[in-house]
Amino acid sequence: MTEPRDENPHVPGPSLWPVGFAVGIVVLLVGIVISWWIAGLGALIALCFAFLWVRDLTAGTALAHAPEVPPESPTGANLPAPEGGPAMPHAEGEERYPRAKFLELSTLGLGGVIGGLVSVPAIGFMVAPPFLKQGTKDHDIGPITDYPEGKYVVATFMSDKSQGTVSRRTAFVRYNGQQNGQPSFTIISNHCAHLGCPVQPNGPLDEKGTKQLADVTLIPTISIAGFGCPCHGGQYDTEGNRTSGPPVRALDRYSFSIRNGHLFLGHAFSVSHVDGTGATAKIHKWTQAFPGEHVNGIESWLYPVQPPH
Ligand code: FES
Repeated sequence: MTEPRDENPHVPGPSLWPVGFAVGIVVLLVGIVISWWIAGLGALIALCFAFLWVRDLTAGTALAHAPEVPPESPTGANLPAPEGGPAMPHAEGEERYPRAKFLELSTLGLGGVIGGLVSVPAIGFMVAPPFLKQGTKDHDIGPITDYPEGKYVVATFMSDKSQGTVSRRTAFVRYNGQQNGQPSFTIISNHCAHLGCPVQPNGPLDEKGTKQLADVTLIPTISIAGFGCPCHGGQYDTEGNRTSGPPVRALDRYSFSIRNGHLFLGHAFSVSHVDGTGATAKIHKWTQAFPGEHVNGIESWLYPVQPPH
């Protein structure tokens, strides 16, 4: 008479490896936003737990495939194979193939593949752009001789020529003279540090002195007393320091370089405040932050972590 079959003979007990794997993935995703070493740690945790998880799952399969030792007689000699064929490796009623294990692994594998196909492109499109350093190419904004000493020039340029005028940006550029044998420039972004509106020079422009150089337009100023924002009245001094209104920090600035007598704009960075003026000013720099975001002080702790941009 046949014994009743065990309905689920190879189902493993509950395991903590999937939980560890999920924790590793969470640490990896948080690390992508915060810092690379945390992302690496998350990847390591996820890989370790994935290995342990897979090893657990496949161990059951391996056991199920392991050749069985023929039963031995009481004297220690192997029992002969029954007449007409080889010895049966499995007892009657036992599954030759671990169907439950196969279904478990194939469901997990298929689910993983489908999940990867759906989520990896979406996550890639969301997370990758800040890391591709888009739009951080240096921009040639003309010969340094087009920038008179001590006066701001309003320079507009296309940050990406392939996108046309929609990519036009504005910077306020002032030549500060020589400092330690090198030309010194103050280059301020026109993005308000409140909500990003375009700030304007507080003073008249010398429209007649406008110069057009390829995609760059240079408009000299006559005399300005700082910068003002038309949206909510934010005011800044001539170094870009906030003097009144809702902005939370000074205006952002651009790094620069000089090559073959031309001035090149580099990456933008944020500034909490500037001490002093001109070539000798002490600029308190920070990684570029979004408008409205504090970059120092206790308030900066209240802002969510931002990806590099
Ligand atoms: S956006 Fe400039 S003050 Fe509000």
